[in-house]
Amino acid sequence: MAKLFFLLSGESESLPAAEVKAILEAEGYRYANTEVLDQTLRLESELSSVQAVQIRAAFTRLCALELFKSDATETEISKTASNTDFEAVLKPGESFSVRINRIKNYADQAINTMRLEGKLGKIILQFTEDTKVNLKNPDKTFIGIITNEKLVFGLKLTEIQTKTFSERRPRKKPFFHPSAMPSKLARCMVNLAHGKTEDLVLDPFCGTGSSLIEAAYIGCRALGVDAQRRMVLGCRKNLQHFNISPEGLILADARHLPFTRVDCVVTDPPYGRSSSTLKSTTKQLVQEVLASSLGLLGVGQRICIALPIRVNQQGQVDHMAKDLAGFVKGLGYRTIESHLVYIHRSLTREIMVYEKT
Ligand SMILES: C[S@@+](CC[C@H](N)C(=O)[O-])C[C@H]1O[C@@H](n2cnc3c(N)ncnc32)[C@H](O)[C@@H]1O
Repeated sequence: MAKLFFLLSGESESLPAAEVKAILEAEGYRYANTEVLDQTLRLESELSSVQAVQIRAAFTRLCALELFKSDATETEISKTASNTDFEAVLKPGESFSVRINRIKNYADQAINTMRLEGKLGKIILQFTEDTKVNLKNPDKTFIGIITNEKLVFGLKLTEIQTKTFSERRPRKKPFFHPSAMPSKLARCMVNLAHGKTEDLVLDPFCGTGSSLIEAAYIGCRALGVDAQRRMVLGCRKNLQHFNISPEGLILADARHLPFTRVDCVVTDPPYGRSSSTLKSTTKQLVQEVLASSLGLLGVGQRICIALPIRVNQQGQVDHMAKDLAGFVKGLGYRTIESHLVYIHRSLTREIMVYEKT
């Protein structure tokens, strides 16, 4: 097992770390000694797990091999760095650069990042043989993250380009609908549901196909259902645009799913504003789709579903997941985790992960 750390996106508080852990679980990597810091996740796992995170993650920016963690003061950092075996990762003749990222304002009184980059560069030069600094095109990049008054420092293994997600954002798809989910969130939900290569991933409220597209991009087989013909047609157009052939895309009612078995369910039911609940209520639909999905899943398989937390003008809160907790347990699911995604003053999406017991 290697000591690894991940620089996480600040787009959501709890989703990025949960996504990395879910990817490791889905791909069968063991991990231990997890520590979640602000926008940084530290854990021990196999080195090759980084590749899975690189291919799959929506909310990770960078993966690194940890060399040390220290309090974020220059004296502590210099002391710890001087006791670090840089020769294990930097060979004679190799060039390097040092980059320090500060999360928010952590240690801004104690640390000047440019000065620290220079200082660490000198220490690395001092403790390695025949190495040199190259800021433009280094053989190796050392990366430090200042977070929670700590410095986590190591060797960059991979940087993750999230540009491709913006190429798949709702407005970029040939069929647009205001209810469409952002591509990064859709990918993250597929990850939380443990979808993996060749798995059959069902979205029973597929709309424009965001989750199906993200599932297909990591090698899953996509199965979509929507009760509106125009959505099914639009979804087909979007899938074709990205060269995706779904396992199935049908006009049907999510409450009566005409399938026998899937590997996981990823879905975003209608909240009755930009997308219609078609004469039902969101709560009824959610209850019925949780019931109809249960029969398609095996024990230990998951559904990841986005539920609303609504606040009305009087400040009353309608918290659907909380409301349904007893129902969900009674059906035969265990709640794995919940994550909040703020939409606007009166609506927050709660990403729920349930596992069949
Ligand atoms: C919030 S949208 C899904 C958006 C989707 N995640 C996307 O990114 O485009 C909900 C969808 O559920 C569909 N829907 C509503 N009631 C349904 C039902 N009973 N069965 C299946 N689909 C239904 C709507 O037509 C709508 O397309």
